[in-house]
Amino acid sequence: MRVALPLAAALALAVSGCSERGLSPSAERGRQVYLAQCTACHNTDPGQPGSVGPPVRGSSRALLEAKVLSGTYPPGYTPKRPTKVMVPLPAVAPEIAALADYLR
Ligand code: HEC
Repeated sequence: MRVALPLAAALALAVSGCSERGLSPSAERGRQVYLAQCTACHNTDPGQPGSVGPPVRGSSRALLEAKVLSGTYPPGYTPKRPTKVMVPLPAVAPEIAALADYLR
């Protein structure tokens, strides 16, 4: 089985090479969720304003939980916009940690 080792190493490299900018598996998962659920309104680059929504890079887990799950903000947080255009997306609840890892 001496040939198997280099093969396995090459495979591991190829697989890890798939994620952009060396994201952790959780952040990569968060990126997929962000691209699928959020970029209708937010920019594909979370640091830029989107067609409808503001930049969201740096959003904390507490902010994501409040805004994405219930359309509110954590106590004391000053929203970037006073509007209430964004619909809550409670189905994203299991992915909040991954989203926070991606957006941090
Ligand atoms: C229907 C369009 C739309 C979708 C889809 C959407 N957003 Fe938003 N988002 C907005 C708008 C517009 C705002 C500005 C506040 C408002 O009007 O609700 C906002 C605000 C936010 C904020 C608060 C920013 C701040 O610091 O004040 C966060 C965080 C956020 N969105 C994250 C997300 C995430 C994560 C997703 C995907 C799971 C998402 N949004 C999906 C439109 C959207």
